[in-house]
Amino acid sequence: MNLQETIAELTPSLLEMRRDFHRHPELGFQEVRTSARLAEFLEGLGLEVTRGVAQTGVVARLKGARPGKTVLVRADIDALPIQEESGVPYSSQTPGVMHACGHDGHAAIAAHVAAVLARYRDRLEGEVRFAFQPAEEIVSGARPMVEAGVLEGVDCVVGLHLYSLMPAGKVGVRPGPSMAAADAFTIHLRGRGAHAAMPHEGVDTVLMASQIVVALQSLVSRETDPVATAVITIATVSAGEGAHNIIPETAELKGTLRTFDAGLREKLIRRIGELSKGIAQAMGGSAEVTWLPGSPAVVNDPQMVERFRQVARQVVGEEAVLEVPPVMGGDDMSEFLNRRPGVYFWLGAGDPDPRKNRPHHHPAFWIDDERSLPLGTELMTRAVLDFLR
Ligand code: NI
Repeated sequence: MNLQETIAELTPSLLEMRRDFHRHPELGFQEVRTSARLAEFLEGLGLEVTRGVAQTGVVARLKGARPGKTVLVRADIDALPIQEESGVPYSSQTPGVMHACGHDGHAAIAAHVAAVLARYRDRLEGEVRFAFQPAEEIVSGARPMVEAGVLEGVDCVVGLHLYSLMPAGKVGVRPGPSMAAADAFTIHLRGRGAHAAMPHEGVDTVLMASQIVVALQSLVSRETDPVATAVITIATVSAGEGAHNIIPETAELKGTLRTFDAGLREKLIRRIGELSKGIAQAMGGSAEVTWLPGSPAVVNDPQMVERFRQVARQVVGEEAVLEVPPVMGGDDMSEFLNRRPGVYFWLGAGDPDPRKNRPHHHPAFWIDDERSLPLGTELMTRAVLDFLR
């Protein structure tokens, strides 16, 4: 098969679909228009399509002419609550919502991998399954997809993430831990409200919160193995109603925990609770910690990474396949990779001039879709064909 010719022929459709999704971004579990368009497209290719998986997800099965392995391609499809300022002609038409992470590109690439492979289905051995996952940004879409049975009969999984800070034409991947587990927590503090001039009559939750913020930093510096990696960030501190002279009765701290190691993750979750409660209690108040269930760390299978690298070197050349350091950002692709061996790789999508590139989740986020999307389609298609073997 001449893959490159087929992809070149499909490139106008690929770019049109990505830009259409970009114009009409939808937040997690609201991807109604996006998944309807994907489902129609995939049905048009003759795939077996299931709509409404994990609310707004779509699953499509491409069965080859002969039996064999099953490879799952996963693509996330949701957008972010950001007002777009990129200035591209296909900018978001929905106020306050934007595809600022490239999931529009992920969805379009996976759909077009299906389009390429559908042309050669009579020569395919096994099954290629496509999971279009909702609500990655709120770390809520992958688990219900897994619970709905998306991984049944699947041998391995593959996915990609566009990367605006890496020039188009480059590919990044690493064996083992690649992205962190991301857990969000809220610490609810209760003291006793009082007049600010009579602190002895109250229990000051502002001081309590301050002690806790500082003490939490010791969990990484003093209780975490220096060669292991963890981040604890308190991102929101709220207390009081704007007065100068009232000691507030309650306070709230919101933060995130990032780890790679499952044991360390468990330990720090426990210690954040113990430390917060201990300090609050010692100061005469109380603390309650609630956790937003995050996703585990993204861990790539070393053997599959090696196979993927060989495929990628043939597509982009030896020097364009980079071994990238792990990042502390999270991705619920881990729910799939935790259960099946697989690869999650970075697809460069930025300009060679780094000054032109904006980070993900930025209002002016931009990707070179003309260069990166066809390449991503080829890489993903060739990886799938290799994994089916
Ligand atoms: Ni993303």
